[in-house]
This record gives sequence, C-alpha cells and structure tokens, in this order.
Amino acid sequence: MAQKSLNQIRETFLKYFEKNDHKIVESSNLVPNNDPTLMFANSGMVQFKNVFTGLEKRDYQRATTSQKCVRAGGKHNDLENVGYTPRHHTFFEMLGNFSFGDYFKEKAIHYAWDLITKDFGIDKNKLYVTVFHEDDEAFNLWKKIAGLSDDRIIRISTSDNFWSMGEMGPCGPCSEIFYDHGDHLKGGLPGTKNEDGDRFIEIWNLVFMQYEQVTKDKRIDLPKPSVDTGMGLERIAALLQGTHDNYQTDHFKKLISSISDVTKVDQVDNNISSFRVIADHLRASSFLLAEGVLPSNEGRGYVLRRIMRRGMRHSHLLGSKEPIFYKIFDSLKKEMSGSYPELKRSESLIKETLKMEEEKFLVLLDRGIKILNEEISKIDKVLSGEVAFKLYDTFGFPLDLTEDILKNKSLKVDHNKFDDLMKKSKELAKKNWKGSGDSSEEAIWFSIKDKTGPTEFLGYKSNQSEGVILNLLKDNKELKKLSTNEKGIIITNQTPFYGESGGQLGDQGTIVSGNSVFEVEDTQKNLEIYLCIMDQ
Ligand code: SER
Repeated sequence: MAQKSLNQIRETFLKYFEKNDHKIVESSNLVPNNDPTLMFANSGMVQFKNVFTGLEKRDYQRATTSQKCVRAGGKHNDLENVGYTPRHHTFFEMLGNFSFGDYFKEKAIHYAWDLITKDFGIDKNKLYVTVFHEDDEAFNLWKKIAGLSDDRIIRISTSDNFWSMGEMGPCGPCSEIFYDHGDHLKGGLPGTKNEDGDRFIEIWNLVFMQYEQVTKDKRIDLPKPSVDTGMGLERIAALLQGTHDNYQTDHFKKLISSISDVTKVDQVDNNISSFRVIADHLRASSFLLAEGVLPSNEGRGYVLRRIMRRGMRHSHLLGSKEPIFYKIFDSLKKEMSGSYPELKRSESLIKETLKMEEEKFLVLLDRGIKILNEEISKIDKVLSGEVAFKLYDTFGFPLDLTEDILKNKSLKVDHNKFDDLMKKSKELAKKNWKGSGDSSEEAIWFSIKDKTGPTEFLGYKSNQSEGVILNLLKDNKELKKLSTNEKGIIITNQTPFYGESGGQLGDQGTIVSGNSVFEVEDTQKNLEIYLCIMDQ
C-alpha cells in the first residue's frame, strides 16, 4: 500500500465514518465557547459536551471530526514534555467518531477494528487493547469482533481507562488500542511498570460515555449511553509512515526542513529538542492567534505567551538572532490551510504578532540567559526564587521557561520563594496604584480582582457563550444573590459582552441562568474585570 501523507490520513478517517452514516463536523475553536471551566479544547468531545448530556440537540446522532486541541494548561497539560519525547505536543489534531445515544460499545469496537485493520492496513498481530477492569462486556466484544486472545486484552483499573474531560462533565470507562512498535524500542505493555516507554503506544481511545460528573462527589447517568473516540492524528500518521516518532512524519519533516532553511542549521542529535519545540510551538501559537488569542500576562493569553517564548528560546539556542517564527509560518500555512482556512484568513495577524513578540523577547533573552548562566555556575541543585523572579519580572521569562533551561542540568527552582515574591509584587502594585481619581470607589476592584481574576473577553469570536458567575454586586458592594427585579452587576469568568473602551460603548444583551434572566444594559471594564450592568 502506498504511504499516505498526514493530510490523506485525516481524509481517510473522516471519509470512513462518513461512509458509515456519520456527519463530518468541523473542528470547533480551541477556545471553547460552551465550557467556561476549560481553558482550551483538549479533545474531540468538547464541542459535543452538551449533546452528550442532553442539553443540546443536533440534527444528527453520529458525527466524525478532526478536532484542533491544545494541552498546555488545566487538567491535560503536556507543555513541559514537548521536545523531549517523540510524541508530546501542545497542539495536535484528534480524530474521532461520536454516537449521541445511537450505537454503543459493539459498533464502536467494530468500526475501530475495521478501519485500522482494513483501511489503514495495520497488522493485527501488533495490536493490543485495554479495557476498564470491570468491563466484561468490552472484554468479550474484543474477543468476538477482533478475535483477540485473552492475553491481548488487558484489564486496567486506574483512571487511564476511565476518561473524564475535566473535573466536571461527561465521562465513562474506556478501551484503548495499542500498537507494538517492536522490540528494538524500550517499553512494556500497558499496566506494567515500563508502560511509558516507546514500544507499546496507544493509538486510539474509545470512551463509552455513560455518566456525567456533576459535582466533585456526584456522578449521574447520561440520558443515553454514547460513544466518544479519540485518535491522535500525528501518532497514527507516524505509525502508518513506519516510525514511532511523530516528528518524523511527512508533515513535521516539512516544518523541520523549513526551520533548517531559515536558521541555516541542520537537525542533529543534540539539537533535536529545539527543532521539535519550534515546530510544535509554531503550530500551537499560530492556531491560537488565528482565533484572536493574543499574548498577554493573564489567562489564555499568558499560556500563549509561555508557548511562544519557550519556542523562541529554542530558536535562540539554534543561534537565531532575528525573529524566525513568522518566516516558518509559511510552510505551516501551506501544509494545513487546506483543512484549516483560518490560517490563511488570519495570516497577517499571525505573522505580525509572531514577529513582534519575538523581536521584543530577543532583546531580553540574551541578557536574561547571561544572568541565569552566571547563577547556574554558582549552585548545585536549586536556583533561588529571587533569581527566577527577577528573570520573570525584568526579563519576561515565564517560570516554565526558566525550568526548561534548567531541565537538562537537573536543577530546580525554589517555587515557594518565587510564589511569595510574586504575591508581594502584586501587593506593591496595588498599594502604588493611584487610580483615576475617585479612589474610594476604584480601590474595591483590586480586592474583587484578587478573588475573581480577570474576565476573558470572547466577543471577537462569538456573540454568545457560557460563563461562570464569579461575583454579584450592588452599589459597589458584593452580594450573595440578586432577587427578582433587583438591579446590579454580574461578573463572569469569560464573556462575549464588550466592555466600554476606546470610544466604543459597552454591549447590551441578556444573561440567562436556569430560569432567571438578567438584562444587561451596559458593560464596563475595570482592571480587566468585565461588569455586566443592569441599572434602570
Ligand atoms: N475523549 C477521549 C480522549 O481524549 C476520546 O476522544 O482520549
């Protein structure tokens, strides 16, 4: 069989499920507008969360997607591993098929086995599966459908075989398919102590969605048993292209060769992490920028800045003295804009932001690294919190960037001291803040912001979204509740309401929570907190 490119593998997957009556649904945005508790979409099921729970209805019961995912913050965070392993990513695509109360375990297993052994032509003697330890039904179905012997179906009792989206939300037992990349690689079967090696790699996770976690201690049944599956496109592409290293696929090879062209450095064993980090972080940064997330010092913008700066430090390691990310973007656009036209649509924003952030950071990076190296030569285990904080405060080094630099040298940072200095610096900023005049009123926003954090503005992408109510106010006093017909202010963790600024008036609209409706007559912005106001 001729080798398929990553783009063709995506297509084969989607078409297989389309042929089996699934609707091909576009990837949702990375910034989920249906889930205020999640930082980024971390798997294919996020956009369908409310369909699983029955809150939302669609005109189809079967779907298939290739979903953009970022795992660089929150429950699923892979940032610190990226570059040092052949298959961690901050940004990746997850292929999936979904049943919303339609088929369940039997068909899910049938489709998975059929696709990988027939359309993808994977040798079934190299495949193993795991099931949740109590799930006899799945165990028996694997025997029946795939003809696997008992020793190839491994029962796992840990959370590895019970999938949850986050602290709350749909969840259920799962069954994972593993591929044996061969005994030239180290690693043991799932459930053994060497399971994290490179030999047996999980390629597909079939989740039998049965429950919804509604509070920390309470789990209820979903209205109908459903299916959510997830297969990392980069991983399956590696396998089908005869490698266990995602960065050796046609897609990454093109990005890596473009990094070589721009930096004039060849990839060799001792700089391989830098090539991987740059390729991966360019993808994550470009897709986040395409959605209007901009580098900043808080929330999602800060995750983006951390990713960008970590990547830019690696381009500096390769000897770049000038911005390179915006140049490599062209090859990413060529590779991916066929499936993700937003890369073309937002090209100028992406390139300008990449260039500006890298220019700004390069100035600080040289000096910061010099200071860090001087300190490193004086210590043997722990870098002081003071130095880490100075690097953060003066040179814009996010803490995980400092840690990334220390990683190869087996050094750590004194986190307690760092956190302590961070807290003090915020207090100082508060004390020195003069406000705009009416200080008695304005000072309260500091204590409110300490509690709530900033509000994330989503309005460039959507004019409707979910949010968590973080605070209620009336006459500048905090309240526990607002009664019927009572006026006041609502603060949420994220919002599509534009807060008055730059000569543009604040948005109006409605906030709905259960049976209550709050008419927003104006939106104001104080210290990055958005105030939805009803005052007439
Ligand atoms: N939600 C599951 C996962 O992320 C399957 O899609 O692995």
